[in-house]
Amino acid sequence: MVCALLFLVPALWALLLLGLWFFLRADGDLTLQWAKWRGRCPEQELTGSVVWVTGASSGIGEELAYQLSKLGASLVLSARRKHELERVKRQCLENGNVTEKDILILPLDLMDRSSHEAATKAVLQKFGRIDILVNNGGRSQRSLCMDASMDVFKELMEINYLGTVSLTKCVLPHMIERKKGKIVTVNSFTGIVSVPLSSGYCASKHALRGFLNCLRAELFEYPGIVVSNVCPGPVQSQIVKNALTEEVTKIVGNSGDQSYKMPTSHCVRLMLITMANDLKEVWIADQPFLLIAYLWQYMPTWAWWITNKFGKKRIENFKSGVDADSSYFKFWKKKHD
Ligand SMILES: NC(=O)c1ccc[n+]([C@@H]2O[C@H](COP(=O)([O-])OP(=O)(O)OC[C@H]3O[C@@H](n4cnc5c(N)ncnc54)[C@H](OP(=O)(O)O)[C@@H]3O)[C@@H](O)[C@H]2O)c1
Repeated sequence: MVCALLFLVPALWALLLLGLWFFLRADGDLTLQWAKWRGRCPEQELTGSVVWVTGASSGIGEELAYQLSKLGASLVLSARRKHELERVKRQCLENGNVTEKDILILPLDLMDRSSHEAATKAVLQKFGRIDILVNNGGRSQRSLCMDASMDVFKELMEINYLGTVSLTKCVLPHMIERKKGKIVTVNSFTGIVSVPLSSGYCASKHALRGFLNCLRAELFEYPGIVVSNVCPGPVQSQIVKNALTEEVTKIVGNSGDQSYKMPTSHCVRLMLITMANDLKEVWIADQPFLLIAYLWQYMPTWAWWITNKFGKKRIENFKSGVDADSSYFKFWKKKHD
């Protein structure tokens, strides 16, 4: 008995410490960590797929185009700025395993819902199928609820929520006919947790999560159609620079310090693992963001203690002209390979 205890107690401590070390180093939720370790590889699963990426003119969407083009996927690149899409296409042709015929540039405004049906037809005409739709295009917000005009709330809902719902509804009949396909939506941590200065943005991302969860349940007869809700924490991109402020005509205009955010390439690699493994919801972030998401999930009342602490500082930073989060997350900077 004593011998067994002598062996068990250190073994349990070792296990606990190992778990803690693993959790502190994690860059996503547990299902994603498992898929990274034991799951299918994007190089095998996604090569040759036809992938439609919205918001492909910058940030996460642009990096998705680069990594997918290296896998030899056929690409449809959409956003409003055609010249930026042309630039992304040139880079894909230069560095990827694709040729001219593998890339379609399709300018699209998520707010112009009447154009989505015709855009879908154009993709089908070119490639004959859509294997994956990546709903990535979106805008963020940096303004207090009481200072933001109703137009800001309306625009964020139009782009992030209704635009995504509209495009998904246009593409789904085709996937239902084929009984296969993937709808991958770039949501956000703010689709799970909420932070000050982003009430319109958080609302649009929470709405997306509700929509996607209902849609997935309604598609139970089609196990070949996968609905993935991807929730990244802070990632290096143009999202803060382009964020709406008090008025739709006024954007933040600079990205601030991005050094504490996850590199775009790392986030996108984890998104490809998500797609290859048909994961239904993933959280992509380093600590302490992951810890905050777990607290919100399992201890919502206690989570408010920490949310209020960060929230107060976030508002103070914003009012003094510093990027909302940079000053207190700097010390968590993590190296990714
Ligand atoms: N970066 C982060 O920290 C972070 C974290 C969580 C979630 N996300 C989400 O990730 C997605 C991509 O954002 P990002 O970080 O890569 O930011 P980004 O660099 O600003 O890219 C946003 C993309 O969305 C497009 N877009 C904006 N308004 C549009 C509209 N009305 N119609 C069509 N496309 C539009 C932009 O292209 P045009 O201007 O050319 O139209 C651009 O390509 C967004 O949904 C965002 O909410 C980002």
